[in-house]
Amino acid sequence: MSTDLEMQVQKSLDRVKVQFSEVASKNAVLNDIEKRQLLPALKSKPIRIRMELTNECNLRCVFCYKSYFNVKKQDLSMEEFLKLDSFLKEAKFLTFFTKSEPLMAQTLFPALEHCTQYEAATYFSTNAIPLTREISERLVDLGLTFMQVSVNVFGDEYAKVYRGGKFSQLEENLGILNEVKRAKNSAKPHLRLSFCSTKKSVLNLEEAIRFAKKFEFSQGVQVTPVFAVGEDQINDTYESDPQYFDCYYDRARKLANELEIPFWIISNPQNSLEEVYCYDPWESINIEPNGDVYPCSVSSQVMGNLNEKSIEDIWNSPRYQEFRKRVNITGPEQNDDCRNCINCHLHHMKTASNSAVERKVMGGGYYRIKK
Ligand SMILES: C[S@@+](CC[C@H](N)C(=O)[O-])C[C@H]1O[C@@H](n2cnc3c(N)ncnc32)[C@H](O)[C@@H]1O
Ligand code: SF4
Ligand code: SF4
Repeated sequence: MSTDLEMQVQKSLDRVKVQFSEVASKNAVLNDIEKRQLLPALKSKPIRIRMELTNECNLRCVFCYKSYFNVKKQDLSMEEFLKLDSFLKEAKFLTFFTKSEPLMAQTLFPALEHCTQYEAATYFSTNAIPLTREISERLVDLGLTFMQVSVNVFGDEYAKVYRGGKFSQLEENLGILNEVKRAKNSAKPHLRLSFCSTKKSVLNLEEAIRFAKKFEFSQGVQVTPVFAVGEDQINDTYESDPQYFDCYYDRARKLANELEIPFWIISNPQNSLEEVYCYDPWESINIEPNGDVYPCSVSSQVMGNLNEKSIEDIWNSPRYQEFRKRVNITGPEQNDDCRNCINCHLHHMKTASNSAVERKVMGGGYYRIKK
């Protein structure tokens, strides 16, 4: 059952109205009240569930932490996934990736199929290279709400950065997806382009806007300024030369306006002094393929494991409560993760895009292979 009151608008996804179930809507109202009070223990459940179904990827993009860190291959089983069921029912946003490639996950389709009984917005980000016609048809049939496609290089240069991929394959796959959507008369999945900007890739930003127009990306282009996970990336961050990046961002914004392509910069460093709270550990729960549960997509602190405790017990465990108490404070009591947050668009600090350079391990069992 759903309610018209819940024609909800959310952040970057705000051009698409999604109808949510009554139970998810009620939960979201309570969650909003509780998060504003920064309560450590919650009666509400998370409104957003991020699930890494596999930690595999078919590519090794040069700018991605996959090229700097290694991880033991793991997959979330359907049995483990179903341990989340009481939370899946009441969430508004179900995200089927965190750091890897969701189209490599064996459980992607059973998991999406299971979730069709809940009225929630489903979403993942992909390099779209494994997207066959059959996969496109299944995604459309299962009503995937949003799909983000990551690309910041176009033409022959693509394969040098998206190692293991081919640009002609990407174009062909997106053409087929649009064909399938048309044939099935479906606006879903709504498409968005994710553009990771480095000094070199930002030269392609206008090309990305034209690409988004060509392939009918109704959700436009979202720019993520690269965060440095290796020393060789420090010179690529926005902070290394703000004027340089601003010049390309301004040009791209102008073209996007002309072509009517939504365009925005995530964690916009141009607004980085704005003070905001981080509510992620109140709003979300983040599951790794080995069943470990994290309080946000950045933290390296494990709150518990699905195979050892129920998700309800983990959500309000002493560890989770302690973590929540130490997010929106300053000083030595603040969580280390929060002080050095690389997801600073969720937090009140200036950008911290070099903070991962020194990390030997990352959340999710990633260990460094390259400085
Ligand atoms: C890690 S990928 C995982 C999902 C999928 N494989 C994809 O590429 O969309 C998610 C997003 O992170 C971005 N990304 C990867 N490395 C990054 C970095 N060092 N800084 C900022 N964004 C990065 C990618 O461009 C992509 O849009
Ligand atoms: S496709 Fe995504 S996860 Fe894979 S290496 Fe590229 S950015 Fe990283
Ligand atoms: S500030 Fe960063 S590390 Fe801390 S909870 Fe928020 S997203 Fe996670």
